[in-house]
Amino acid sequence: MDDAEAADTVDLAIRTGYRLIDTAENYRNESGVGEGIRRSGIPREELFVTTKFNREHPSRDGVLRAFETSAGLLGLEYVDLLLVHWPNPDQGRHVEAVEGIAALVEQGLVRAVGTSNYKPAHLQQVIDAGIIPDVNQIQLDPQRPRIAERAFHDEHGIVTQSWSPLGQGSGLLDEPAVVAIAEAHGRTPAQVVLRWHVQQGMVAIPKSANPERLAQNLDIFDVELSGAELAAVHTLDSCRADVVDSDEFGH
Ligand code: A2P
Repeated sequence: MDDAEAADTVDLAIRTGYRLIDTAENYRNESGVGEGIRRSGIPREELFVTTKFNREHPSRDGVLRAFETSAGLLGLEYVDLLLVHWPNPDQGRHVEAVEGIAALVEQGLVRAVGTSNYKPAHLQQVIDAGIIPDVNQIQLDPQRPRIAERAFHDEHGIVTQSWSPLGQGSGLLDEPAVVAIAEAHGRTPAQVVLRWHVQQGMVAIPKSANPERLAQNLDIFDVELSGAELAAVHTLDSCRADVVDSDEFGH
């Protein structure tokens, strides 16, 4: 979303009931997100605002500068969660970047330390340096269930956040197994998929600019999938959808 669309959507989303807003330097819409937050009129402390920084900022000073730029655009004094957007292991600074965020937490500028797209091997290096990130945000949906990554996160008390939880137009929402469960509950396929995330303890961050779908994606807390239904969704793993390889890609 560009700034204008982000402002309208964030304002509407907050008034619809959303409290977690996820943006990034790379989305180039932090100022629109900030505008939407102000327009909504909701007190700052009721929101959980996440942003992320790019590969230009892996040093401690760099992370501070990245925070200052993002916070300035958002119009916020602190952010709830700051993520290293990609590990970029070619730079060899994916541990230092997390240390930079931890220093901001000590200064009260950031409330939680996060990584994004870190593999267990990257996280282990961070843990060996004495920091356990609060959150790792990874590409995760029923076709990419990331079982090994989730087990690693659970072992270390790291919250798993799912980016592109609806599978980014990969046909997931047309899968017969998902459609059948949706029909059985009188819900939409997207609601079934989001419920699949939430019921297993993941934090899903679906993106929508459409008012109806925004409301629909939030309305998932009074439906419960059975063990058999979760198992039916699990079988979608068998399609072996590609996951972006964070040893190869990053920005
Ligand atoms: P739109 O913004 O027009 O609603 P993901 O979060 O997995 O990356 O998927 C985001 C995409 O899924 C967006 O293109 C969004 O389009 C679409 N989307 C979001 N919510 C729903 C929904 N409830 N049903 C169908 N498509 C959705």
